Amino acid sequence: MSKTLLITGANRGIGFEMTRQAAARGDRIIACARNIMEAPDLVALAKSNSAITLLGLDVTAENDMKQIAAGMTRKVDILVCNAGILNSYGGLEDPSHHSRAIESVLMTNVAGVFFTARSFLPHLLETNETSSQPSGMTGKIAVISSAMGSQQRANSNAPIYRASKAAATNIARSLAVELAPRGIAVGAYHPGWVRTDMGGPSADVSVADSAAGLLARFDVLDLTTTGLYENYLGEALPF
Ligand SMILES: NC(=O)c1ccc[n+]([C@@H]2O[C@H](COP(=O)([O-])OP(=O)(O)OC[C@H]3O[C@@H](n4cnc5c(N)ncnc54)[C@H](OP(=O)(O)O)[C@@H]3O)[C@@H](O)[C@H]2O)c1
Repeated sequence: MSKTLLITGANRGIGFEMTRQAAARGDRIIACARNIMEAPDLVALAKSNSAITLLGLDVTAENDMKQIAAGMTRKVDILVCNAGILNSYGGLEDPSHHSRAIESVLMTNVAGVFFTARSFLPHLLETNETSSQPSGMTGKIAVISSAMGSQQRANSNAPIYRASKAAATNIARSLAVELAPRGIAVGAYHPGWVRTDMGGPSADVSVADSAAGLLARFDVLDLTTTGLYENYLGEALPF
């Protein structure tokens, strides 16, 4: 049965491809971009598929997001917190890790997930007669985290991004516990090392394979598996 997904950061990369594939299989998508005017590919995709609705959304601007959410009456089945940034792959002495950059990474990758979940919680909780949610469930939250946030996979690069993704996974776990009694399942996902602007051309996973894998994993997330941390192939990751 067709679902409604709200996807942040849908104008390029994995978010764009998840939007494209989900729409192609018959789902309805609320595709969010922080600047629709600078999202020509997404605008063209939405023009070619009426199942895609565009929404201007900066995940760091909670007040704007709350207002936008308050004006939206649609039920959301799967809230995909995908928007993310990586400021630098350098280590401790990399000057790119300055306070403004760190603030931006933490606001986007950590606070952005929290603000998005808080703003659209009412839409996840709404009942929908045409929804395909299993009984006892109202909606799902998928946090696109990263294996780089795994404590057991610590490495010598990108400490700020790693910390932000460790926190994103941690928020997913907290929300899983808090929202289970309200019928919402939450998962943290690693999309693979993906050939996008962020992953670069040497990455080993195509954006099509990553998006297809993630969408399939969201479909099987439920209250028995809530709090999971896994990759796009469904392989569990160590926290
Ligand atoms: N690619 C990988 O190998 C990889 C691996 C692990 C995890 N991830 C995670 O997967 C997610 C998607 O990554 P990607 O590879 O598709 O990256 P990408 O190609 O760089 O795209 C990032 C998306 O996030 C959006 N975004 C950034 N800040 C935002 C904000 N404040 N509000 C709303 N949207 C914002 C960007 O919008 P603009 O165009 O406006 O900047 C863009 O649409 C991210 O969370 C990333 O950390 C990626």
